[in-house]
Amino acid sequence: MPVGTDLDHAVRLLRAGRLVAFPTETVYGLGADASSPAAVAGIFAAKGRPRAHPLIVHLPSADHLDAWAAAPGPAARTLAARFWPGPLTLICRRGPGVIDDVTGGAATVGLRVPSHPMAHALLARFAGGIAAPSANRFGRLSPTTAADVVDDLGDAVDYVLDGGACDVGVESTIVDVSDDDAPALLRPGGVAGEDIEAALGRRLRLGSSSPAPGTLPSHYAPRTRVITVTADGLAAAVAAAAAGGARVAVLAPATALAGLGPRPALVVRSLPDGLAAMAHDLYGALRALDQRGVDVIVAVVPAELGLGAAVADRLRRAAGPRGDDAADPVAPVDLDDGDRP
Ligand code: TXA
Ligand code: MG
Repeated sequence: MPVGTDLDHAVRLLRAGRLVAFPTETVYGLGADASSPAAVAGIFAAKGRPRAHPLIVHLPSADHLDAWAAAPGPAARTLAARFWPGPLTLICRRGPGVIDDVTGGAATVGLRVPSHPMAHALLARFAGGIAAPSANRFGRLSPTTAADVVDDLGDAVDYVLDGGACDVGVESTIVDVSDDDAPALLRPGGVAGEDIEAALGRRLRLGSSSPAPGTLPSHYAPRTRVITVTADGLAAAVAAAAAGGARVAVLAPATALAGLGPRPALVVRSLPDGLAAMAHDLYGALRALDQRGVDVIVAVVPAELGLGAAVADRLRRAAGPRGDDAADPVAPVDLDDGDRP
């Protein structure tokens, strides 16, 4: 499928109801005209995503908030003013014009103003809302380069705008502000939860009463089985995993690897110790390890501070319900599509 930087071409395709993948500061999105049911249907078909999963609508600027949200309250306005453009998605009561195809029939809509210059230029020229999930097949890792999009979606997308590697590297933080009295963190991401709480002057509730389908544990999975451990438990987990003859890879910050000692048979992928840099490199590292043909990836979960919360969340989801259970014997090679129930 064509890859390039032709914004006018991308806008023509979007106006014609076609799919355009585009870079954002978090991950690449698979975009379609958010006001067109047929165009939005194309997103679900290309991703293989169930229709009930709502999509985030991307907007050119915070000035568009009132056109898409119904009577946003002080919490929505405060967070939009403070963090847009940027890696924050606000779940708001939906405005009257928002189509069911985008919201999955929900009473709310997810809205975000990305800060990536190419995303901004696309949105400004399109002059409307672009519905976009991450540009990966359902249940797979989110793409952080144009090449990742091509690898995963192939000809299912009409054009890929190439804006280089994504700065943040993990998806946006999602905050539900549809009830102004009880803002809730639905997904940790590119804006630190602590910074959101500081801006609001209050604590966030965790999760929602009706969890979004996209927050299923298996949603961000590589093909290879992942086991999550703390740095302290790394050596024991590696030994246990390797004991049955399994080929083991380790994904860990450099300081945690230092404590592991020499283990020539291991495939080792080091992550930076800084939490923002770790988030930036996370999906690329998981993709690379997925190519190595190992049986299991033992991943060290960082401290849940700042962007560490998003990294820890994605690693746990990659591990699925069996995560943190490093003492278990290693299961046979599991090369399913990543969509474990
Ligand atoms: O960083 C990001 O957010 C990227 C870039 C492309 O913007 N997008 C992204 O979209 O991660 P997606 O579809 O992969 O994940 C969006 C999540 C899903 O879990 C979805 O269920 C949830 O947001 N979501 C969207 N609208 C919602 C709504 N109205 N209520 C609750 N959750 C919602
Ligand atoms: Mg996604």
